[in-house]
Amino acid sequence: MKIIGTGSALPSKVVSNDDLAQVMDTSDEWIRSRTGICSRHIAVEETTTGLAVEASKKALDEAGISGEDIDLIIAATVSSDYLFPTLACEVQAAIGAKNATAFDISAGCSGFLFALATADGYFATGRFQKALIIGAEVLSKMMDWDDRSTCVLFGDGAGAAVVSAEEDHLLSMVQGSDGAGGMALMCENRPVNNLYRQLGPQTYSFTKMNGSEVYKFAVRTVPQAISEALEKAQISVDQVKYFLLHQANLRIIESVAKRLRQPIDKFPTNLEECGNVSAASVPILLDKVRGEGMIEKGDKIVMAGFGAGLTWGACVLEW
Ligand code: UT7
Repeated sequence: MKIIGTGSALPSKVVSNDDLAQVMDTSDEWIRSRTGICSRHIAVEETTTGLAVEASKKALDEAGISGEDIDLIIAATVSSDYLFPTLACEVQAAIGAKNATAFDISAGCSGFLFALATADGYFATGRFQKALIIGAEVLSKMMDWDDRSTCVLFGDGAGAAVVSAEEDHLLSMVQGSDGAGGMALMCENRPVNNLYRQLGPQTYSFTKMNGSEVYKFAVRTVPQAISEALEKAQISVDQVKYFLLHQANLRIIESVAKRLRQPIDKFPTNLEECGNVSAASVPILLDKVRGEGMIEKGDKIVMAGFGAGLTWGACVLEW
């Protein structure tokens, strides 16, 4: 597969750390020093679907193709507007991709990597040629805004990539899951509540995270996954131009850089202005890096995601 277009979309409202400090017991100093995050975009009028459609249209424009040319749409999200229909089907309708098979993937912050891997498998059947891969989240609606240890970390947004089966630029893909650690980062769905088991009116539950457990998981697993992906691709770590990591915490990114013995300037970031956008964070970053002309033909790029599940994924691409 080859990525032939990218796009992204962010809500217009920007909320700084200082803004949050006015409404909860936190500070710019705490958030910035613990995470690197300075501000995040929060949806007010925007929806997950609207952001995903905007990012997808930009990616299609850049690829120079229309919705009708797409035969596969995979949306990675944990915060779609509806449990069903899926976000991918909503996007399909909005972009007129009437020839596409469309479905969602739920793999937390690894979602974009898992969606890419799934498209690669679909391409291998020979029955699909052009896929639209989306990561889109409005996590702000799933936050407990009274839980300062979690709500300050996340933001809203969407990223998309058009991928083509024509040329094979995906040099390797590594994925993994550890369900045993899953409760470290969770959000309950609706409980069983029906004619036969009546719990009464239910309130929605929100995201809960054991930050230090997830932190330890990330710094242990991500360097391993990247090393494995590089080995499979037969690429040395020094040949990689950029490492595009899920944007959860600058300290995690610095730790991965250190473990891989790579300079930190090979790890572009956007968590400063976006926070953690879960499945959308890698494609939003990819779009930014491409938009700034930082990637040239032939460059080797690593992308890596990690998060809820627990799950992780890493791939090596040649541009
Ligand atoms: O995308 C999915 C992947 N997610 C991640 O990768 C997240 C990984 N985890 C992390 O990034 C870090 O664990 C956090 C940023 C979430 C937390 O950093 P930490 O250095 O592990 O802080 P902590 O949880 O140990 O909290 C330290 C202190 C506590 O106070 P005490 O008990 O030491 O007095 C917290 O109550 O900081 C307090 N605290 C806050 N203070 C001000 C927690 N949240 C805040 C806050 N503002 N927002």
